[in-house]
Amino acid sequence: MRTRPTLKQRRRLADPIQEHIAFDQTASSVAIAGHPLHAMMVAFPITLAFCAFAADALYWWTGDLFWPRVALWSAGVGFVIGILAGIVGTLELLIVPGIRIRSASWTHFILAVMLLSLLGANWIIRWDDAVSAVLPWGILMSAITAGMTAITGWHGGKLVFDYQIGTQNDHSDPP
Ligand code: HEM
Repeated sequence: MRTRPTLKQRRRLADPIQEHIAFDQTASSVAIAGHPLHAMMVAFPITLAFCAFAADALYWWTGDLFWPRVALWSAGVGFVIGILAGIVGTLELLIVPGIRIRSASWTHFILAVMLLSLLGANWIIRWDDAVSAVLPWGILMSAITAGMTAITGWHGGKLVFDYQIGTQNDHSDPP
């Protein structure tokens, strides 16, 4: 039969991060009326990364020269807005104590930097000749970038919905 841990054992098992005074201070500080700016911005790089992959696939399928230009612009605009969203996210990470102290936030940061590097590379390889860049390397880069976007976006959602990062803990219903 299992016995309850003694006070001494409980003290030894306590997670020092969870015990930290800043642990629950997770409310977003880069926000408009409490709504995190980062969450509003990431919709663009997420959507555009998938658009670049779809455009490459459509060019492969149809041969229509319209699609390589769509892929070039999707990767480029996705990268630029992704960098801006990343700057906002990094400010949040550095400024808010309850975000800075948690390892999950730093995991998200590392995933995001890898994603932004891929998104940037996927744009640069198309600069000289957007059409001949598509097959095979462009579409391969787009596929890897889309996969990485899914992982990073899913992890971002985990920060908010599992760890309540960016949310207000002292929240009271608006009047
Ligand atoms: C480069 C550095 C980045 C940092 C430091 C960062 C940090 C954060 C933080 C702290 C949150 C919690 C919500 C908030 O406080 O705003 C968050 C949420 C999120 N992040 Fe990032 N992020 C970065 C880049 C990205 C990128 C490039 C993407 C695009 C895939 C992304 C996707 C998300 C998503 C989808 C959420 C959940 C938003 C929600 O559902 O409310 N992040 N990120």
